[in-house]
Amino acid sequence: MLKDKYKDRIAAIFAKYPPERKRSAVMPLLDIAQEEYGYCTEEAMREIAELCGIDPTEVKSVVGFYTMYYEKKVGKYVIDVCDDLPCVLRGADKFVNYCEQKLGIKAGETTPDGKITLNVVMCLAACDRAPMCQVNTAYHYDLTPDKFDKLVTELKKG
Ligand code: FES
Repeated sequence: MLKDKYKDRIAAIFAKYPPERKRSAVMPLLDIAQEEYGYCTEEAMREIAELCGIDPTEVKSVVGFYTMYYEKKVGKYVIDVCDDLPCVLRGADKFVNYCEQKLGIKAGETTPDGKITLNVVMCLAACDRAPMCQVNTAYHYDLTPDKFDKLVTELKKG
């Protein structure tokens, strides 16, 4: 249980919000869950809902809305490629196809070695630098097949 293992950290999070706004702690608590399990498990989402005094479906809707939260196990590296309209106008759709081909997986899947998950996501606020992607917390801009190949080589090296 998160509340046992991360008692102090959770208390510090709740201390930041008024008692009647416990629901405001959902996202930092999801961060803890994801750190602990690698993704937001059903059990963790239920526990967070209980801690915040809200319905589990509300927690699940936060996880579903933000691409930084995962509902299933992901690779060590998560490549989020934006394929929202402004990026598509700069070739992001073709770039996604290239990423799938290079990695041998479809968007939403993880490579068999468990190292890389590929996702397509909505705007990452770098529209003028498309095609672009986010790898875990780092942004990569103005991508080409060549640059992507080098990025994948680096990620596979770990
Ligand atoms: S539309 Fe892709 S980063 Fe904004």
